Amino acid sequence: MSEKKVSRRDFLLYAIGGWAAVGAGATLYAMYKTWEPLPEVKAAGIVEFDLATVKPGEVKVIEWRKKPVFILHRTPEMKEDCTKRTIKTSSGEYTVVIGICTHLGCIPNWEPENNIWHCPCHGGKYNACGINIFGPPPKPLYIPPFKLEGTKIVLGEEGPEYKQMVSG
Ligand code: FES
Repeated sequence: MSEKKVSRRDFLLYAIGGWAAVGAGATLYAMYKTWEPLPEVKAAGIVEFDLATVKPGEVKVIEWRKKPVFILHRTPEMKEDCTKRTIKTSSGEYTVVIGICTHLGCIPNWEPENNIWHCPCHGGKYNACGINIFGPPPKPLYIPPFKLEGTKIVLGEEGPEYKQMVSG
């Protein structure tokens, strides 16, 4: 049997190849770390809010990704069938919608005496489910992606309740 001799030239080629592989790996890792969002950036799109702090009949407005989000604690007087747009927790039933009119983007106002949102720009109206009922808005107010943790809502994450709502 003949033993294969590794020449000095082969050895140098192997060594250079090895270093090149290590260098490529380090470069890829550095690129990955550059592209990966920082933890504070990842967390920026997530907002947590305790629904139990909203009294029955009250609307609170919170900010999520620079948009207003309306949180309405529904009452039995709000007769609309909101089954597909209702968030239920141990503290009550809620409508949670992005507060931007689906016509041209104004911010509707809540009218507690009528239990509707009224858009000041062109008179569009939405019921307590956030469904467009009058005027030019072509669609209901959008529901932000959310996840429930007890009475806490986490905006920016898609939980099973949200997926069920948007699945139709
Ligand atoms: S922007 Fe709301 S009705 Fe036109």
